[in-house]
Amino acid sequence: MVKVPNHAFWKGKTVLLTGHTGFKGAWASLMLHELGAKVVGFSLPGPVTTPDLYGAAGLSRFVDDHRGDVRDESALLKVFNLAQPDVVLHMAAQPLVRLGLVEPIETLDVNIMGVAKILMACKAQPSVRVVAIVTSDKCYENRERVWPYREDEAMGGKDPYSASKGCAEIVTSAFARSFFSDGSGPRVISVRAGNVIGGGDWAEDRLIPDLVRAYQNSNEVEIRSPSAVRPWQHVLEPVSGYLMAIENTAGRASWSGFDSWNFGPTPGGEMTVAEVVSVFQNIVGGLPKVNFAKEAELQSQRKEAGILRVDPTKAKVELNWSPRWDNETAIKLTTEWYVNVLRGQDAFDLVSSEVKSFLAC
Ligand SMILES: NC(=O)c1ccc[n+]([C@@H]2O[C@H](COP(=O)([O-])OP(=O)(O)OC[C@H]3O[C@@H](n4cnc5c(N)ncnc54)[C@H](O)[C@@H]3O)[C@@H](O)[C@H]2O)c1
Repeated sequence: MVKVPNHAFWKGKTVLLTGHTGFKGAWASLMLHELGAKVVGFSLPGPVTTPDLYGAAGLSRFVDDHRGDVRDESALLKVFNLAQPDVVLHMAAQPLVRLGLVEPIETLDVNIMGVAKILMACKAQPSVRVVAIVTSDKCYENRERVWPYREDEAMGGKDPYSASKGCAEIVTSAFARSFFSDGSGPRVISVRAGNVIGGGDWAEDRLIPDLVRAYQNSNEVEIRSPSAVRPWQHVLEPVSGYLMAIENTAGRASWSGFDSWNFGPTPGGEMTVAEVVSVFQNIVGGLPKVNFAKEAELQSQRKEAGILRVDPTKAKVELNWSPRWDNETAIKLTTEWYVNVLRGQDAFDLVSSEVKSFLAC
């Protein structure tokens, strides 16, 4: 029987969530609120995009909202002191591969030093029992092979963003073993997932948001890497996995110092970029018009990985976690979310009903 996060664990817990104003953070804030946790958010000032899900759905109602930079140690210590969190879920990052090629130093700085500083803040705050660092499927050394990657495989990264996530993993594991292995500090885990979809993502350079913008403005859209396989999943799948991994970590009788978890679609259930485009177009009546960019040229320009799959067997066996919605359902829900918002439906009602139905299924 597939499980969802456990209300009894989360009820009354204080969770310090970094990146709460981002796409994943907004969905995580609402899921944690639904589970009865108190959410303390820490993110950069201002919205991540215009529009943004956090603002559009009015999620600040449910969050003790703090703003600052994760690299600012004194700002972090202040919010940790105020919040006295039981759990830290660190999502804040520069999350875009292409922006990483334009701003490599900033990407490395936020994504690596941000993790180091969060872990040092956790070290200084005795209330923290578990800290989960969100990295990415791109943390693995991508050998362009057909087999999915398991948690114990080599870290790597052929572009600055991927390298930043591989390095974030190495730093997390090193800090966990150096500073927290004697059992006095929090238990540290890293959590790895791939591309997520869901309503309310308006970031540049992501497939469904790009399709939605083109549909909305009746434009043609250039889509790169049509045959690239990405582990598409609804954002609630990895978010629920992160929470279940935290529950598992908190509940274990013994702890060996560090653990990591993959969350991805069931192997074989992945789709290519072109297949996602086709599901989207079928739902909205054949639109928008798509121009598939020349793959070889773009691959060499952008050095993006062609095939990347994570193996979620460990989460399935040890957490009873499994994707609840297959690719097609996730793409359908996501497309309908945007279409309904464009038709005037309330963003909060749409997010809230999806979170409730996810937790109820
Ligand atoms: N969205 C995806 O498909 C995807 C896939 C794999 C991994 N991830 C990872 O999940 C996490 C969340 O991604 P997202 O898509 O929600 O990103 P997002 O861009 O929507 O949100 C990023 C969040 O991080 C905050 N942030 C960024 N830099 C910061 C800084 N220096 N100090 C404080 N806060 C800062 C932003 O304010 C925002 O709240 C990231 O770690 C990302 O690498 C995302």
